[in-house]
Amino acid sequence: MIHRLPAPATPVLLLALTLLGAGCAGGVEGTPGAAGLRDPYFPGLGNGGYDVTHYGLELDVDPAAHRLRGTATITARATQDLSAFHLDLAGLNVEDATVEGRPASVNRAGKELTIRPGAAVEDRLRKGRTFTTVVRYSGSPQALTDADGGKEGWLRTADGAVALGEPSGSMAWFPGNHHPSDKAAYDIEVTVPEKLTAVSNGELVSRRTTGGRTAYRWRTREPMASYLATVAVGRFATQQSVTPDGIRLFTAVDPQSAAASKDVLAEIPAVLKWSARKFGPYPFTSAGAIVERKGDSAYALETQNRPVFPGPPDTGLVVHELAHQWFGNSVTPATWRDLWLNEGFATYAEWLWAADHDDVPVRESFEEAYEDDANWAFPPADPPGPADLFEPPVYGRSAMVVHRIRLAMDDDAAFFALVKGWTKAHRHGNASTEDFTAYVEEETGQDLTGLWDAWLYGGSRPPMED
Ligand code: ARG
Ligand code: ZN
Repeated sequence: MIHRLPAPATPVLLLALTLLGAGCAGGVEGTPGAAGLRDPYFPGLGNGGYDVTHYGLELDVDPAAHRLRGTATITARATQDLSAFHLDLAGLNVEDATVEGRPASVNRAGKELTIRPGAAVEDRLRKGRTFTTVVRYSGSPQALTDADGGKEGWLRTADGAVALGEPSGSMAWFPGNHHPSDKAAYDIEVTVPEKLTAVSNGELVSRRTTGGRTAYRWRTREPMASYLATVAVGRFATQQSVTPDGIRLFTAVDPQSAAASKDVLAEIPAVLKWSARKFGPYPFTSAGAIVERKGDSAYALETQNRPVFPGPPDTGLVVHELAHQWFGNSVTPATWRDLWLNEGFATYAEWLWAADHDDVPVRESFEEAYEDDANWAFPPADPPGPADLFEPPVYGRSAMVVHRIRLAMDDDAAFFALVKGWTKAHRHGNASTEDFTAYVEEETGQDLTGLWDAWLYGGSRPPMED
């Protein structure tokens, strides 16, 4: 209850606080924010005690020397009275940090930075207050090996670099609260040698060349989870346009991938329009794609607004990554256990697209997934461990869950209304498995325990007809 007291204003209050044992000279004493958010798969990811509202990243990139110099200006709201707090950062050297303009001490233990602000600004970190932290850092950013052996984080490419990372690669290039539950707005300024281009999320607000280096400023106003942040530096052929629905498109393509990507990238406006009919209004103001050269990055990722493709994609992959803009990017998993909601809907989008464009009925896609033993290795809402998060059940079997809901409703119009209602209810937010199952039961008025038990949580393949 001490924490709810207003700032001590009178000697009587000060005395009272002292008697209650709360007192340090400056007033109410805070406690350190937690070093992790106890995610079921990555307990150490993210940090407690604050909620980031905005990241301002200034990155100076020298790809030839593999050097990065960064300044991260992090605006956050305290969710408790804070005496210290953590940021996640992998590799790189921290030069210094300030909180509210005053020097702060920084302690490093592995991927955790502990920031301890000076006593003079302690008051500014009371619960509910917004405070600004500036971290200056530099070094040679690294590729991280994630739990499934994939490479992510900061990846060197033939002519530059690409930063991408699901689940946790973003900590390789900026300090922050790297858990999907803490979404924020971003301004990302990247300065590169003038012969290269720097692409990131959101909208390009300016581009300025001085002394042989060009600064690109990218702005993301809509909340973004840090695993969806990206930077791509290299030689790119870029294109800008606006769709008839007013969505700004920006594509950046490695010249070696240009010819093979041309037709599929031209489909983006049609894919967005089709997706909006199925899932509800496109949640962002801009869209596009970054296409790397084959071999430059390990996997495609639905980085916000502008997915990264590791080479020329096919239409199915474009449909998948654009569907994630609704499922994952706007409606973001509350924890990594809820990832099946992302991949299930993105895979289902591919099935829907194939039904509408390639004469493959959804029933056929479902049956093919059902017959594939790989999809039955474990239940999608309960992968055995972090190494299994991106395994087939999280894709194929989760899409089957979505289709079973549709079958249980037995009314396509109502099913698509349910899907649109879901993206609307959690637009630009976070949602968990429990939120989803409760929502579906509420909307359908059905007790779907049997469906969840068999298809979402069950250990074995249920009969097709039940
Ligand atoms: N979300 C990406 C996709 O399905 C895949 C990310 C894979 N990440 C990994 N660590 N294996 O589009
Ligand atoms: Zn996906």
